[in-house]
Amino acid sequence: MAKAREIEDNNGFEMGKPYYCKECKRNHTKGKIYKEHLNFALFENNDEDEIKDKSSELNNDDYDDEAELIEIFNEINNEENNVEVENQLEPDIKLDSEDILDNSDSKEACINAVKKLPGVGEATLNKLIKAGFSSLESIAFTPPSIIQEESGLGDKTTAKLIKASMEKLNIGFKSAEDVWEHRKNIARVTTGSQELDDLLGGGVETGSVIEFFGEFRTGKTQIMHQLCVNVQMPEEKGGLEGRALYIDTEGTFRPERIIQMSEGLDLDHKKVLKNIIFGRAYNSDHQILLIKEAANLIKEKNIKLIVVDSLIGHFRSEYIGRGTLASRQQTINSHLHDLLRLCDIYADLAIVVTNQVQAKPDVFYGNPLQAAGGNVVAHGSTIRIYLRKGKGEQRIAKMVDAPHLPEGEAIFSITENGICD
Ligand code: GTP
Ligand code: MG
Repeated sequence: MAKAREIEDNNGFEMGKPYYCKECKRNHTKGKIYKEHLNFALFENNDEDEIKDKSSELNNDDYDDEAELIEIFNEINNEENNVEVENQLEPDIKLDSEDILDNSDSKEACINAVKKLPGVGEATLNKLIKAGFSSLESIAFTPPSIIQEESGLGDKTTAKLIKASMEKLNIGFKSAEDVWEHRKNIARVTTGSQELDDLLGGGVETGSVIEFFGEFRTGKTQIMHQLCVNVQMPEEKGGLEGRALYIDTEGTFRPERIIQMSEGLDLDHKKVLKNIIFGRAYNSDHQILLIKEAANLIKEKNIKLIVVDSLIGHFRSEYIGRGTLASRQQTINSHLHDLLRLCDIYADLAIVVTNQVQAKPDVFYGNPLQAAGGNVVAHGSTIRIYLRKGKGEQRIAKMVDAPHLPEGEAIFSITENGICD
């Protein structure tokens, strides 16, 4: 056989092109490299144990093809790459390191659970972490095409990982008894107003997406702030002893209000502020991404409440004209389903979103205002509350849609100390 071109280092590889290997004195083609030789070439200068470790990983039959094997080869051989993996472990959302509620073992526990999935070696694990999939939940929860695109894993590997994660998390068909068990874990966060709590069946419940919609200044953002404070309180006071994650799309989050509300409840405002993880979404893509990142934080950071204020503001301003309506609705739908899936996975997580209203031009009698986002949002959120202004500080909340609660109204007030009766 004719001798192919010799190469000096890995960078000389070109996919599909043959080259002559000096070590084993034969021609190789990138994409069809021999596994034994790969081990030899790869770990020549490493110590014995590491060679054994990594060789067994490379010989794992679960990898889709040899091209993937070569990618792994390049990845573990490239130290710079590994440093980058470590740097990317921290997500985009701002976090406070020191905190009473922090569950420090959780991150490691989440990563360990991923590591135990069949076919996950060090290299696959690194790829997953690098792409932000460091928990079973985030793997089970993300569409396969996105995992593939972001991690660079093959379709078969991705499908296997998703299937295994879903099995571990017990997602799929289950008996009504299991559903009842899941619902028994549902807890409630007080809104601060007894009347509003009663309307909601005892407060904002976990395991559902709850939508507050209404005109400007009707108190949507105030309720979101109050829930972030209340969720941190012990159960006997109407909280869940957990953190809140606040996704602000309108730039209306005000720590000053959190301080006032904490003082109203005799809580240490410094601690309260620390336990609110804040993410500012500058556009709809960013908003979608923050929710996907949130999937990785829930367990690790003991998050019991997710706020999205507001849900579709960005979508309304970015998708303009009738021609974009279909794709806008599709994107909102998939965003809402990301939220709903989180509820299915975490029975003790409450998700509240706010929504604007729009005037319906064809309504002549009755209320022409309706929640923005159309049927997609209406069908997506589990419980919907319509807010309108009353006298002075008073606001009126109306239960519009809930699968298990009666319709009704409640009056509450917005005061300096927050939401109350
Ligand atoms: P948009 O985001 O514009 O759609 O409105 P929103 O429904 O989110 O309104 P928001 O929750 O921001 O409510 C604003 C209203 O809360 C103000 O008009 C005030 O009436 C009330 N509010 C805010 N801060 C205070 C306060 O410190 N004291 C009192 N008494 N009321 C306040
Ligand atoms: Mg607002």
